[in-house]
Amino acid sequence: MKNQTTAVSYRDRLKLLTGAAGLAMFSACGGGSSSSTPPPSGGTPPPPPVPPTPPPTTETPVDGLLRDTFRNNFVVGAAVGPAQIGSTDDSDVLAKQFSSLTAENVMKPEALAPTEGNYTFEEADALVSFAQTNGLQVRGHTLLWHRATPAYFFEGTRDEIKARLQKYITDVVTHFRGKIYAWDVVNEVISDDDGSTAPYRDSNWFQAAGGPDYIDWAFEAARAADPDVKLFINDYNTELAGKRARLVSVVEDLIARGIPLDGVGHQAHIQQSTSAADVLAGLDAFTNMFAGLENHITELDISIYSDPVECFNGGTNCQASVGNTLPEARAREQATKYRALFDGFVTRSNLTSVTLWGLKDSDSWLNAFPVNRPNYPLLYDADLNTKRAFLAITDPSYVI
Ligand code: XIL
Repeated sequence: MKNQTTAVSYRDRLKLLTGAAGLAMFSACGGGSSSSTPPPSGGTPPPPPVPPTPPPTTETPVDGLLRDTFRNNFVVGAAVGPAQIGSTDDSDVLAKQFSSLTAENVMKPEALAPTEGNYTFEEADALVSFAQTNGLQVRGHTLLWHRATPAYFFEGTRDEIKARLQKYITDVVTHFRGKIYAWDVVNEVISDDDGSTAPYRDSNWFQAAGGPDYIDWAFEAARAADPDVKLFINDYNTELAGKRARLVSVVEDLIARGIPLDGVGHQAHIQQSTSAADVLAGLDAFTNMFAGLENHITELDISIYSDPVECFNGGTNCQASVGNTLPEARAREQATKYRALFDGFVTRSNLTSVTLWGLKDSDSWLNAFPVNRPNYPLLYDADLNTKRAFLAITDPSYVI
């Protein structure tokens, strides 16, 4: 209730600010109601009133504005690591504005078990402890991926690989039991095309298991280790019809065979050219699959570039860098896209978590992917000022 009051008062304050600025300007120009004093005869006629300017993007929002704006819809998360947790300024914003955290890297297999059987939980534990101290929930990312996984996972016979994977998942899920609300059990297991292993990615896991059975192994071990945590299959490009259809077919198969699955994670690494409607269609494709299925937006960022597929596959034909400042026009386009997305998100009742892949632009992985080039994909700039995108999603009356 308290938070609701502060959120409302922030909006009121914004309206007052813009309204008051406009009003002050209007009356200084001699405008106003018909009863106002006319300009002295012979004087220069007043210039026409200037419309109010949008509030500065550097205004500090009231505590809780971001999470409270969506508190009846979904938790709002950020992917972070030791650098953000260890920074006073970053951690202050995380604690004040977010309701969920994801480990950007420190819960991946290579971080938790660099050598077999030797767990290095310290950085992940520190992240969980920070979240708990500040009342944030934690999303687990990720138990199985074809990247960030030490080579020993793939050594030995199929049975040995299965046993090792299941022991790893059992140990990790048990370690974090009760502290994590959802796990990305498998990440990016769907193919990008209709090649011979489709709908499955032809990955190290697929090869090691001789097919897609490793997906079942992972979900079964995770469920056995924690009956309560929500189990997700997570992937990118669900805004594209082909990838989405392949993921739909795999999810349908998992459900039909009784594999314990609670939801679908949509990474939503999108770019300026992506249509918000396509992202929302990605969510809707899973909505009626089974009662209680949840969607999560797990890694949202909006690249300010609009690159062709060869840029992502080989680093060619990528758009030219805009340089070290985000151009105003791009900031506005991006804010418009963020607003369109969140306007759609709030109407999807089975969307229960939305996570930004990073806190501030300067920390984004997109500064080095698909090529080295400054990108500005998040809600906060390098100095932790709220960008137009932040204002666009937290204040419906904000003029982008
Ligand atoms: C990325 C991190 O952001 C980088 O810091 C790291 O170098 C590579 O991984 N999809 C995922 C995430 O599921 O785990 C990836 O995170 C981004 C793409």
